[in-house]
Amino acid sequence: MSKIRLGVNIDHVATVRNARGENYPSPLRAALFVQKSGADSVTIHLREDRRHINDSDLKEIKSKLKIPFNLEIAATNEMLKIALKRKPPFICIVPEKRQEITTEGGLNLNFKKNFLKKIINKLKKNKSRISLFIEPNLNDIKESKNLNADCVEIHTGKFCNLVNKNKNYKYELKKIKTAVILGNKLGLEVHAGHGLTYKSAKILAKISGIKEFNIGHFLIGESIFVGLDKTIKNFRKIVK
Ligand code: PXP
Repeated sequence: MSKIRLGVNIDHVATVRNARGENYPSPLRAALFVQKSGADSVTIHLREDRRHINDSDLKEIKSKLKIPFNLEIAATNEMLKIALKRKPPFICIVPEKRQEITTEGGLNLNFKKNFLKKIINKLKKNKSRISLFIEPNLNDIKESKNLNADCVEIHTGKFCNLVNKNKNYKYELKKIKTAVILGNKLGLEVHAGHGLTYKSAKILAKISGIKEFNIGHFLIGESIFVGLDKTIKNFRKIVK
């Protein structure tokens, strides 16, 4: 079985920095640290309001990081322009609402579908791998294929929430499993992300067919107690 990739989202290093308007802790330093600790990629979400990562973080990370970085962007003209200029190896298109605390759900693929198709094709021609962040439902998997995406990232938020609260997660797990099977059948690379902890990642890592996990908030939080290197290595043992 091939190795599952581990992507580490470092947005919350920038959140801590921005809370004081200082230039530390540095997201670039975090990205290089993550690389050294054995992650396969670094994820950063450039939001419209720049609440965590900003344009100069993106520029610095692009110029210094050796492993691929995965740029999460909303489907807007502004983000398209930036992504075309910076040429991230990986791009994940995500929905974005200004008032939300985090990315609350998957993309609505029926909204501005032609625009979405246009940006996917432009970014693919620019040599970025394109993933769509979607809910685990079969229509969205089929639609992602129709839109010519390379990958889908399944929003695991609902599942993780149930796991965290020790509630019954069987139904959500089944939805994820079914979505993974169809994604693989259609030739899409399937990823998983949002809300993952050691416990939820352990359950999902048993599903064959998920090729990449993107993990941020819990991982950065846990590193306060045991360090970033140890936390990444702990996830590395789960995601392998
Ligand atoms: N994947 C995507 C597409 C996301 O938008 C996020 C959150 O920014 C993550 C993964 C990471 O989620 P978390 O920070 O909850 O681990």
